[in-house]
Amino acid sequence: MCGIFGCILKKGLVAPQILDGLKRLEYRGYDSIGVATLHSGIIEIRKDKGTIQEVTEKLKINEMKGTIGIGHTRWATHGAPNMINAHPHTDTHGKIAVIHNGVIENFLELKQELIEKGHIFLSKTDTEIIPHLIEEELKQNKILKLAILNALKRLIGSYALAVISSLEPDKIICARYESPLVLGISNDGLYCASDVPAIRPYTNKVIYLRNGELATLKVDGYEIIKISDSTVIHRDFEEIEWTLQESEKQDYDHYMLKEIFEQPISLKNGLWLQEQYVDLLTQFLDRGKEVLLLGAGTSNHACIAGSYIFSKLARLTAYPVISSEFIECYGSSIGIDSVILAVSQSGETYDTLKAVDHARMRAATVLGLTNTVGSTLTRVSRAYLIQQSGPEIGVAATKTFTSQVIVLTQIALKLAKLRGKLSQDELDEYEKNLYNIPYWVETVLNRTYLNIKSIAKKYKNSKLFLFLGRGISSATAMEGRLKLLEITYIPCLAYPAGESKHGPISVVEEKVPCVFICPKGSTRSEIIGSIMEIKARGARIISICEEGDSEIIQLSDDVVEMPKGIPDLLSPIPYIVPLQLLSYELALIKKLDPDKPRNLAKSVTVP
Ligand code: F6R
Repeated sequence: MCGIFGCILKKGLVAPQILDGLKRLEYRGYDSIGVATLHSGIIEIRKDKGTIQEVTEKLKINEMKGTIGIGHTRWATHGAPNMINAHPHTDTHGKIAVIHNGVIENFLELKQELIEKGHIFLSKTDTEIIPHLIEEELKQNKILKLAILNALKRLIGSYALAVISSLEPDKIICARYESPLVLGISNDGLYCASDVPAIRPYTNKVIYLRNGELATLKVDGYEIIKISDSTVIHRDFEEIEWTLQESEKQDYDHYMLKEIFEQPISLKNGLWLQEQYVDLLTQFLDRGKEVLLLGAGTSNHACIAGSYIFSKLARLTAYPVISSEFIECYGSSIGIDSVILAVSQSGETYDTLKAVDHARMRAATVLGLTNTVGSTLTRVSRAYLIQQSGPEIGVAATKTFTSQVIVLTQIALKLAKLRGKLSQDELDEYEKNLYNIPYWVETVLNRTYLNIKSIAKKYKNSKLFLFLGRGISSATAMEGRLKLLEITYIPCLAYPAGESKHGPISVVEEKVPCVFICPKGSTRSEIIGSIMEIKARGARIISICEEGDSEIIQLSDDVVEMPKGIPDLLSPIPYIVPLQLLSYELALIKKLDPDKPRNLAKSVTVP
């Protein structure tokens, strides 16, 4: 939700680096962009609605002068995406410029107060009150940092923000509460950004700012303090391990395609977890009187798959819960005996963190599974695991879903062992199959893509898709549906196949494509029954089934044949891959950018 980037260089123009940083943050929002630089003692701002490329060409942003600057790529929350609402926003006299990611909940009240004091507002955003508050504070207190600190103390809501001012033109001041912010340290300068990929081209040395911290960046160094009492915090940088190449598109047309094809590697990495942390999570899970798996969107689908895996392998009932529903549904019943395993790629999703906060208040044990080292989730969890997928830039989650499932499976296997629920032979067999998964996924990528391209062409004009699966494949169906609808905007339904006759079947008519996920397993005869019911109503059946499964193949109009021998319980990982590719291909046919679906942003850090 909005990307922010600030940079202060020893020499050279800062604008090209800001633009480069914003391009790497575009996945967080792309409604409008804006840059402010400081030169000859004044702030210059160029901003507009549109993509980075369009606005840069129109306003020649890369020619802006100055070695200090801030930039913003917006995902609109308050006010339409237009030039006036684009960040940066300024005070009355254009001496303070602010970029902001987050939501200021009490902005209307503060705005009214400022209007009464004579401030004039141009935009409909919540952000614009921040430079005006700082301006007001500067009347009492001439030091920028102190004015900002006082202003921040009046804000209710979430923010990651960066401020420059012509009154103190040698610095960027940035701060965070509930929205992510990371600092980058290099020999040429200092950076602040919403996420590591934006600063990775310039340095691998980063510092994760924590909630309620403010940093002052100058060419010769940085200082971090607590917003509440100005205590100075001494924190050294961490070195990022992944390379710049890993966060770039390389030869692929889109990040989404690159990330789909990276899965054999990301899955292999997901198998190299640190034993002692898996053991720790396992012990906490074992002690729980009840276990809830918490996540939003794709992470929720990984949790749904996880609930089948925990139940079948470790005989542990683990309820999957949508993060935004957690407090209403379980907020009053959880307590000291509850264990919450929160799953979040970014580790910054507002709904998930809010649920986690609530769980902690009720003394529940919170565990985390995330892809983001240094994220808020890692700090609020009693113990956590990093899923090792590497950076995911495409807005639609692909490789991070399969990694989440492979990590959850390993935890479930450990738990099964601890609880003595599987024999050694069974454990060995599952482990062997787990290590086969990256190879199965590689085979699927190599063998099915051409077929999927032709299936996509065949169904390009369909106005509705259904996704059905039984057992654990209902999680695959839901994730397949989410991929297709979020990047092609085609309405889709997904249900456990058994539910279809309780309502969804009424939408089935001639030629409606219905995707069945049918790995070989205990639900096989039922899924065949469901296919026949849907087929009898004239639907087109697209089956994802095991190679040579003649019964299913005969019932289907189109088939994607999967490698033999994939156990049902591990099937969501390889079986989601053709559905990721199908969504990608349909988006291309519809001339949509799969990396930037409308109205979406990768990291949802607002309520
Ligand atoms: C869908 C997608 C989203 C995220 C959701 C949770 O492709 O990416 O549904 O899965 O916003 O994000 P995290 O996992 O970062 O908490």
